[in-house]
Amino acid sequence: MRLSQTICGIEFQNPILLASGTCGYGSELDGFFDIDTLGGIVIKAVTADARKGNAAPRVAEFTAGMINSIGLANPGPDVVLREKLPWLAARLDKARVLINVAGRSAEEYGEIIRRLDDAAGFHAYELNVSCPNVKEGGAIIATREDLLADAVRCARAATTRPISVKLAPNVPDIGRMAEISVAEGADALTLINTVPGLLFDTETGRPVLGAGAGGVSGPALLPIGVHAVRRARERVSVPILGVGGIRAAEDAVQYFMAGANLVEIGTASFADPRAAPRVLSDLKRWGAARGITSITEIVGSGLLA
Ligand SMILES: Cc1cc2nc3c(=O)[nH]c(=O)nc-3n(C[C@H](O)[C@H](O)[C@H](O)COP(=O)(O)O)c2cc1C
Repeated sequence: MRLSQTICGIEFQNPILLASGTCGYGSELDGFFDIDTLGGIVIKAVTADARKGNAAPRVAEFTAGMINSIGLANPGPDVVLREKLPWLAARLDKARVLINVAGRSAEEYGEIIRRLDDAAGFHAYELNVSCPNVKEGGAIIATREDLLADAVRCARAATTRPISVKLAPNVPDIGRMAEISVAEGADALTLINTVPGLLFDTETGRPVLGAGAGGVSGPALLPIGVHAVRRARERVSVPILGVGGIRAAEDAVQYFMAGANLVEIGTASFADPRAAPRVLSDLKRWGAARGITSITEIVGSGLLA
């Protein structure tokens, strides 16, 4: 089965990427397998300045996945420019690199992108819009049409590189958010980010996470993400990166059938650092067993009753 696709003018050797925040900057997983065999890697969100992140515990497991509140801990643009991107540029030949960008206001997306834009070692941006807008009383950008439009517009004005807007599933109409993103210049969409959640320690009555509430990821997200991709695919024609709950090749196929062109693997890498290469090799077997000649045959092939 042919796995390569050209998406937004970028050639991906296969459709399996590592999701932002779950693979560091690539070097963290490179000892477990050759990361250059993947389609790509989305590095941890870069914010305007370095951030230490939230109080521990930052992650907790539950039956259907995990909940996290990391607080966008990252070393900031200077270290990304000085250390992380040069390492990726030297290390990777075929795997593509997306920089995940998180702003506190629409303008900040543009500022961060302008700082990074001339660097080598990456191919596109992914906008993390599941962030509070500090100028708007902390409203989550991805959940308000006006804030989403402003953030994408500011990012678009700052670069000619491809931008994928990463949407949140907890909105009334994700198809509408997809349309707004594309109207403001998004070249692609990533769906989905984590779903807001809260769990208590039943002995102490306190939240299990130091920050209180957090984002749910892992297997619980699979049907939510597949549904979101399908809803977006019905409304926009740009490429879609599917993410949420993928642990096996069949999970990735769910996203392809819904209309995703590429997929990202997140939480599964915590349980098994070799999850992404395993999904890739199982996907090849899955396609070969069914006589599928190209991954593009599966994309959008899911039927609606
Ligand atoms: C520990 C952790 C950190 C994350 N950090 C980011 C981030 O910095 N930027 C972002 O857009 N998404 C971030 N995410 C969300 C993931 O990229 C992904 O969208 C989500 O976890 C769903 O996929 P999964 O079920 O395969 O983990 C993070 C997720 C986890 C679990």
